[in-house]
Amino acid sequence: MLTVRAPATSANLGSGFDVFGVALGTPADVVRVERAPETTIMVTGAGSEYIPEDPEKNTVGAVAEALDAPARIRIDKGVRPSSGLGSSAASAAAAAVALNALYDRGRSRKELVPVAAEGEALVSGEAHADNVAPALLGGFTVVTDDGVTQVDASVPVVACLPDLSVSTRDARGVVPDSAPMDEIVTTVGNAATLTVGMTRDDPDLVGQGMDDGIVTPERTELIEGYDRVRQAALDAGATGVTVSGAGPGVLAVCHRRDQRPIAGAMVDAFDAVGIESRAYQTTVGEGARLYRE
Ligand code: HSE
Repeated sequence: MLTVRAPATSANLGSGFDVFGVALGTPADVVRVERAPETTIMVTGAGSEYIPEDPEKNTVGAVAEALDAPARIRIDKGVRPSSGLGSSAASAAAAAVALNALYDRGRSRKELVPVAAEGEALVSGEAHADNVAPALLGGFTVVTDDGVTQVDASVPVVACLPDLSVSTRDARGVVPDSAPMDEIVTTVGNAATLTVGMTRDDPDLVGQGMDDGIVTPERTELIEGYDRVRQAALDAGATGVTVSGAGPGVLAVCHRRDQRPIAGAMVDAFDAVGIESRAYQTTVGEGARLYRE
């Protein structure tokens, strides 16, 4: 049996819609695989009641199919579905690493990115790779049509998860078809600033580069209490705040010393609008890790 732990991820980071992603230290999914004549899937853990176990409908089933690697697969969910923290990507990345090793397929982590992204297509309708790339490679990733660029990073973050559900399909439905040139120019500048910040592990530069006036404002409408939570995090010292992936999770970047007050402020702000939430105080971290048993 092989076991893989794959992390939650946060895509977009505001200015890098469908391009940027980071691996988070916590939470994570754990996937166990054994060879079998045909694929079966069992799911336990956070939100498992919402995840289909039919291999035809599960992201992990799509990965097993793509690698021609039938297996008995057990998924222990640490990353809640529809949270904005790359729940399906964590399972897909973990399964890709596990099945690649189980059947000696010899694919590199970068070669597994499109394989795991196939699983994403089942959930969102599109095989976008900005969550699976950091889940596989760790750190900060930049996904383009030409492939993936990765840099290790360890910037502190708070990921606050409200007890709300926003489907990726709905959140993609509000993305505008076009944008004014001045907004595009501003966003490119922010994205470049953020990238430099990641390479320097500098929370101030990363936070400065997170603003996005094109996609994020449309999506915040889907997250009750977002403006209040964002302001509370900034007042408590966050250097930047944005929607995590498609939401409803909210991501704050910060200095380590400010993590605890920011987490408290975000939870309190959701609470003030009657929404329970949970805040993970973590850092940008490593990608999927394989354990042999
Ligand atoms: N980049 C994607 C989005 C991530 O924002 O729709 C969601 O999984």
